[in-house]
Amino acid sequence: MGHAIAVALFLHLLGVAVWVGGMIFAHFCLRPALEDLSPQLRLPLIESVFGRFFNWVGVSVIVILLTGGFLLMQFGGEHATWQLHAMAGLGVLMMLIFGHIRFAVFPRIRRAVQAQKWPDGARAVGTVRRLVVINLVLGIVTIGVAVLARGF
Ligand code: HEM
Repeated sequence: MGHAIAVALFLHLLGVAVWVGGMIFAHFCLRPALEDLSPQLRLPLIESVFGRFFNWVGVSVIVILLTGGFLLMQFGGEHATWQLHAMAGLGVLMMLIFGHIRFAVFPRIRRAVQAQKWPDGARAVGTVRRLVVINLVLGIVTIGVAVLARGF
């Protein structure tokens, strides 16, 4: 394996680890731990945690896209295996869902917290939760498909 491919794969997997691992932490550890807090405490905390996490995901998305595109070219471009194309397709779908969370739903949480409109904020957080579950499932499926690309 060439050095460039090894480095790209390393960065690709680092990005995947940050993104998918962060979603596991948010969904299975943070969310249940905050459940009993009042909205006045919970929503500003969620806003500040998401604001930071989404920056990390944004960087991960760029790294995954660049390294994935590079790797795809190295592995045959349009002639690459269907598993690699499936990974790319699922990856782009996950990125679109993330974009919707970050640029459509998250601003609603921000505005609700600033205006102290707790029910609006709680609704938007519920939407983020559902979309994160979808992306988490897609992420795990994508990792499975990626490993299948090894030639099972
Ligand atoms: C944006 C689109 C993406 C493209 C174009 C892409 C492309 C690639 C390519 C060409 C490889 C190298 C395969 C090999 O070494 O045989 C790879 C590896 C991998 N990718 Fe992606 N990828 C993308 C997104 C993702 C996402 C979103 C995930 C997971 C959530 C992911 C998980 C993996 C894993 C786990 C490997 C290692 C597979 C292995 O070496 O067995 N990729 N990717």
